[in-house]
Amino acid sequence: MRSKIIAGNWKMHGSKDSVTALLSNIKSNFAASSPQLIVFPPYVYLEQVQQTLKDTKIQWGAQNLSANEPGAYTGEVAAQMLLDFGCKYSLVGHSERRSFYHEDNILVAMKFAQAQRHHLIPILCVGETLQQREQGLTEEVIREQLQAVLLLQAGVQGFRQAVIAYEPVWAIGTGLTATPEQAQEVHQFIRRELAKQDEVIAAQVSIIYGGSVKAVNAKSLFAMPDIDGGLVGGASLDAHEFVEIAKCIN
Ligand code: 13P
Repeated sequence: MRSKIIAGNWKMHGSKDSVTALLSNIKSNFAASSPQLIVFPPYVYLEQVQQTLKDTKIQWGAQNLSANEPGAYTGEVAAQMLLDFGCKYSLVGHSERRSFYHEDNILVAMKFAQAQRHHLIPILCVGETLQQREQGLTEEVIREQLQAVLLLQAGVQGFRQAVIAYEPVWAIGTGLTATPEQAQEVHQFIRRELAKQDEVIAAQVSIIYGGSVKAVNAKSLFAMPDIDGGLVGGASLDAHEFVEIAKCIN
């Protein structure tokens, strides 16, 4: 059975007060052990999140990590530091990292490997732009994003302990959600690509969808056979909405 995951990517939002309020609301309104809830705060709130969530079933992680070991890399955060704050997960290759900070497939693959080297579970984000979709390049783009990780990891084994997030760039923060059928098509494609190398791993890896997920559209997305949950941006900053999204999955 694949685990069901609802993750909240807070991006560059929050304050000490809003983090306290958001987490206490989520905690008091969601106590079930499935789906697994995970929050991704900005680095500076990780300690606060750790303290607030330590006796709960909710997990937390980082939005990014360095591909390097600790050293002279101003402004970067190493995997070991994330472990120090109880992180179990890290996002890698979010489209905002790829587009604004020029992270290419090779760097993303290095980050994926670095996370696993330190026993953090990477959530690999993949997805096409609107232009790529319109040009019929969706599968090619996603295949390349997966291939980089497969090559650097010497195959599919790296996906034994990893999560994939399909986030079409055109659906992020735009209010334009992929239809359940559009998302399912890509999720199934991702699983087939992995199955070419290992059917068991392909069947076991959780593939979550991100891009304007809201309580109103979550149920139909999560009803799709290859969609194992959601990576939620804007709506994860609203405790009520986030919990309602989590309740849409069974
Ligand atoms: P939105 O839910 O705001 O579209 O963001 C999705 C996302 O980028 C999550 O990582």
